[in-house]
Amino acid sequence: MRVRFIDYRGVEHVVGGEPGESAMRCATAHLVPGIIGECGGAMACATCHGYVGDSWFDRIPAPSPQEREMLSGCIDRRPNSRLCCQIRLTEELDGLTITVPDSQT
Ligand code: FES
Repeated sequence: MRVRFIDYRGVEHVVGGEPGESAMRCATAHLVPGIIGECGGAMACATCHGYVGDSWFDRIPAPSPQEREMLSGCIDRRPNSRLCCQIRLTEELDGLTITVPDSQT
């Protein structure tokens, strides 16, 4: 499956992902600029913040209260914000598009 990341410069990175892995792991494995994943997916850093493409947002399970709390601390939060470490890739998400916030340079 493919995941399309758009970095803070507007550069597109179309990378291969495995069902079951997180979008954060997928991004860091392919060195997508701006997705760091400093806490390893423990919802403690928000360095994996991304904007999920509009047509994809409702296809991803809703954020947990803990994820919502972490996102509330992001200065550049938007309605389509998610922590990439909490997005589990599935075949149905083939083509998922995530934009990296400008602040994550
Ligand atoms: S990797 Fe730290 S919150 Fe997602």
